[in-house]
Formats: sequence, structure tokens, C-alpha cells
Amino acid sequence: MKISVLGTGYVGLSTGVCLAEIGHFVTCIDINQHKIGQLCQGKSPIYEPFLENLLLKNADEGRLKFTSSYLNGLEGTDIIILAVGTPQSEDGSADLSYIMKCAKDIAPHLTDGVTVVIKSTVPVGTNELVEKIIMSHCNNDITINMASNPEFLRQGSAINDTLHPDRIIIGANSKKVADKIEEMYLPLKAPIIKTSIRSAELIKYASNAFLATKISYINQIANLCEMVGADVNDIALGMGTDKRIGLSFLQAGIGYGGSCFPKDVKALHLTAEKHGIQFSLLKETMRINDEQQELLVKKAKKRFGSLKSKKIALFGLSFKPNTDDMREAPSIKIVRLLSNEGANVVAYDPVATHNAREVLGNMISYANSPEEAILDADAVFIVTDWDEFKHLNITNILKKMRCPIIFDGRNCLDESMLHLLEIGEYYPVGRPSV
Ligand code: UGA
Repeated sequence: MKISVLGTGYVGLSTGVCLAEIGHFVTCIDINQHKIGQLCQGKSPIYEPFLENLLLKNADEGRLKFTSSYLNGLEGTDIIILAVGTPQSEDGSADLSYIMKCAKDIAPHLTDGVTVVIKSTVPVGTNELVEKIIMSHCNNDITINMASNPEFLRQGSAINDTLHPDRIIIGANSKKVADKIEEMYLPLKAPIIKTSIRSAELIKYASNAFLATKISYINQIANLCEMVGADVNDIALGMGTDKRIGLSFLQAGIGYGGSCFPKDVKALHLTAEKHGIQFSLLKETMRINDEQQELLVKKAKKRFGSLKSKKIALFGLSFKPNTDDMREAPSIKIVRLLSNEGANVVAYDPVATHNAREVLGNMISYANSPEEAILDADAVFIVTDWDEFKHLNITNILKKMRCPIIFDGRNCLDESMLHLLEIGEYYPVGRPSV
């Protein structure tokens, strides 16, 4: 099939590259010419494991192209996938301006019978709005088919998630359209769930908000564990082994971040409110998450009394491992709180330093290695669970610190290693301290 993907962010680029990998002819379109320039040279503008290799391979084999011209990119296409961003507006709702602009811009280039698929996360009813905009801006008397096909990939494992999805949701108002999209995904051999467009739009929000709620739930259990002397890892295992609950997204820590959960929980809460539903469960999910991001600073204050002039080594800046994305990263709030307390922060992250500088500027210093960050530090805060931090020689690290104390916000350190600790103090989340 000939497919055009609009938007070369995480979702658009991963989708485009993977659709090419399974044999389709894909053109990725983005109005950002700088990005397109980079992509044409085989460079991925984002850090995502395996993405650049697959990009190069499929471009070399002639199945993947990049352009900023709608005229070229949409010519003869069977399916157009809209994967532009829907960031958060000031009031917390999804900002649809990119998707609306996209609809207007592609309209004059569309041919009769083309299928337009919305992959971006959009509130219920957006497909209908987009269809109206396209119909009022297209030149000819054409018919188009709309479909909703939300994406469930995670940053850091985007390629694997796209090539091996748990399920594919296809929301369409006719069997013919749904079958066409199913055909596009056939090589993935994934379970397909066909629904109405509105249901598909809502499935995405319902899934993200549920996962975020699962995280806030286990985080509150972790806080309770600290009070009653229980271990949240044991609780998560004990709960999650029940198939009805499931083990994933029960990892306690300092809360969720990223470009999806925070904005999607807020947007779903607003949508519900708009329709007269008081979804206060989601309000609690957000409140617990906000509080959880303050946990390490609260613990350090309790331990030290005051954090004024204390040197804190921050391990990890990105919102999760295997990505350089800083959007809504818990590290941002932690750094602001530490700065307010008068602490000096030196941070190390394997890949996110460049992006972190844009957000945090010179509020903190940046180290090139964990070893550099901990020199004379009073405490380490583990903020992101990069594998690198799980394999550190903790005894060596602690020896080089002024004060050998670790506050682990992601329960990264291995139990067997902790028993070897000769010096120092270790404060995990929801587990007994050492
Ligand atoms: C999330 C969803 O998992 C994807 O299915 C969805 O497609 C995506 O949003 C999206 O809407 O585009 P993502 O934000 O990339 O994916 O990352 P996750 O792996 O879901 O992690 C989100 C946050 O939750 C991270 O800050 C992570 O550290 C935190 N988390 C995750 C926990 O604190 N505990 C857990 O057990 C799992």
C-alpha cells in the first residue's frame, strides 16, 4: 500500500518506519523543514532505540521517504495517517490546532475515496470535526473515509511496541474502511478490535488514564508500606500475579511523567466534566502524582533538617529510561524544589542532558558520568531507572560521597547489592530502608 504519515514525532516517525518495515511504501510529511532535512540524511531527530537503524534500512530499500511538500507526499496515496501532536491547552484540554491546520492543508490535495486515519490522541468527536474541515476545504466533489486508529506505543520501546502490539484498535463507521486498515496491519498478525470511531477515540484516553491511576494506586500503597513496615515490591508481586490485576504498571516510584499520561488524564477529566460526569477518581490520580513527585525532597529534608548548601547528585533527568524526553519529567519539579531549599544540584543523565539544559538551564550543573556527579555529594537522588544506575558499584559510589546516602525514587538497586553495603544509608520507595 502507499501510505502518507503526517507528523514526524514519536508516533508518526515510529509508525512510518514500521509500516515501511512490513512492506508498505511510506512517505512521512512534516512542515518542519529542518527535521525533514535531518531525516532525509538518515538521522532521527529523537533518541529511540532501533529507530535510526530501521529508518536507514527502509530508506535504502526505497520504501521510506520524507518530504515537507503535501503535493508530493500525498500523491497517489491510499491511506493518510494524521499523527501530529495534540499538546495540552492552558485549560488542560487537548489543543487541536495542529490537527485542524493539518486537515485544512491536506484538503486541496485529496483524491476521491482516500482514507484519512487519525492516530493522534484526540477527544471524542474530533474525527467528525476533521472530516467537516476537510470537506469544506477540498477543491473537488470527493468523498473521503475517516477512521480512528489510536496508538499505544511507549517511548523507549516504540519500535517493539509498534511491531508487536497487544492489539490494534480500528474505529470506523463502515466495514469497508475498517477492512482496509486491517489489511494495512495484516503483516503484524496482531489482534484487531473494530469499534465505532467515537469508541476508538475514547479507548485511548480510557487506557492511559487507567494506567496512570494504577501507578497512583501503587504509589499510595507504597506510602502506606513505609508507615506499616511492608514492602511494596512484594505487594505488587502478590497483587499482580492475579491475572485480573496484572503485574505491569505496578512499579512504585516518584510518579508518572511524559508527554502522554499527565495531559491525557487531565483531558479525560475535563471531557467527563463537560458531559456532566464528576470523574473525581482522576482528580485523585493527578493529586497523588503531584505529591509523589515531591517525595524524595521531603525525605531528604526529614533526614538532613535543612537542604541549604547540600550537594545533591541527581541520577537521571528524562521522564523514563531509554528516552531523551524531558516533557513533564519528575526531575523538573524535584530540581525546582531543591533550588528553593538552597541545595546545589549536579545531574547526570545518559542521553537527556541536552534537552534538560533547555528546560533547567543553569539552575543545576551537569556531569558527564555518575562518578563525576557524586564527588563530595551529600546525597544521591535516583530519579530515572536507567539500566546504567542498576549496575553501578554502589559501595564505590558511596565511598566517594561526603555523606553516603541514597534516596532511590525508582527502587532501582538490587537487593543482593544492598546487603553488601558496608557504609551509607539507602531510602527506597515503599520498602524498608537499609
Ligand atoms: C504511555 C502509554 O504507556 C502508551 O501505551 C501510550 O501509547 C503513550 O503513553 C501515549 O499516549 O503516546 P509513555 O508515556 O511513553 O507511554 O511511557 P510509559 O512507559 O507508559 O511511562 C509513563 C510514566 O509512568 C513514566 O514516567 C514512568 O516512569 C511511569 N511509570 C510507568 C511508573 O511510575 N510505574 C510503572 O509501573 C510504569
